[in-house]
Amino acid sequence: MTGTPRRILSVLEGKTVSPPPIWLMRQAGRYLPEYRETRAKAGGFLDLCYTPDFAVEVTLQPIRRYGFDAAILFSDILVIPDALKRNVRFVQGEGPQMDPIDVSEILALKDDGVLPHLQPVLETVRRLRATLPQETTLLGFCGAPWTVATYMIAGHGTSDQAPARLFAYRHPEAFEKLLSFLAEVSAQYLIAQIDAGADAVQIFDSWAGVLGETEFDAFAAKPVARMIEIVRQARPGAKVIAFAKGAGLNLKTYRQKTGADAIGLDWSVPLSFAQELQKDGPVQGNLDPMRVVAGGKSLDDGIDAILQVLGQGPLIFNLGHGITPEADPDNVTRLIERVRGWTP
Ligand code: CP3
Repeated sequence: MTGTPRRILSVLEGKTVSPPPIWLMRQAGRYLPEYRETRAKAGGFLDLCYTPDFAVEVTLQPIRRYGFDAAILFSDILVIPDALKRNVRFVQGEGPQMDPIDVSEILALKDDGVLPHLQPVLETVRRLRATLPQETTLLGFCGAPWTVATYMIAGHGTSDQAPARLFAYRHPEAFEKLLSFLAEVSAQYLIAQIDAGADAVQIFDSWAGVLGETEFDAFAAKPVARMIEIVRQARPGAKVIAFAKGAGLNLKTYRQKTGADAIGLDWSVPLSFAQELQKDGPVQGNLDPMRVVAGGKSLDDGIDAILQVLGQGPLIFNLGHGITPEADPDNVTRLIERVRGWTP
């Protein structure tokens, strides 16, 4: 790499970059009129994910409009269950659905063609790296085994993932098999994304927050640790961000337990605790997405609080979860300008 360094990669190496680099979870999405236009052309949501022309276009839209420091591959965590032939459907207004998996189907799971199925996504990664400005970091991603398992077991999203928690208690062996199977195939998928040109990858454990202490270790931290181990064995030095949403005090040892380079923080993580976590390495987050909907002073105050406490250490500025469809695109401009204009 020559010329301007990729600022997010510097942070992932543990450096403090000032002002901090910024990208937003779900930065390509329904709050952007140009996304809605491409989405309508693509037809179904999975067609959007599996058609490189469309997926490249929507990945680039927020980069063109705002010049974020990272582009995140446009895809979804549920392409893994789709590749496992779970009949994944995205029904507009209802969220994702798939056939719920049972014990015998889990015991019969095998990888017959996950990566071949995901070739269009890998083609999107290759085209993105060739197209993006050289200073823009390209992030690949996948879901963490626990979060993907919650959708596979219930067959749809739920508010508390009770079906997956119950399944884990009732069928511990099958559940363990499901998590380790997902860890293996997801790690291979991340390696393939890195080989296709992703500079770093993020593992989304969006449902980590519904787990008790013992379960967090067994179902969230351990499979993510295994994934990172597989990825690093194959590609030493691979950079990984792990985002365990809602994990609270379980975050205290999450970096050490998983080996992640950076940990993502949701907006409920107190900044004083975030500062403690930052002593061990880079953190990413954690503005409440609702502040981007509200705009004005509430947006400015939220940004300033994060910068004041975390801005003088290794920080990737982000939201505490994905930007929502109601967010005003002009508020994103205001957010970026304020972060970029910050001086310690
Ligand atoms: O810009 C980006 O961040 C990259 C693209 C991306 C999407 N999903 C696109 C998407 C990423 C990184 C994801 C991750 C994802 N998908 C997660 C983990 C992060 C999180 O938000 O917690 C989860 C749990 C999913 C599963 C999923 N996909 C749900 C529950 C839904 C429906 C809810 C919703 O927001 O509509 C999706 C659909 C989805 N994935 C959309 C987008 C832009 C909206 C679909 C549409 O355009 O109709």
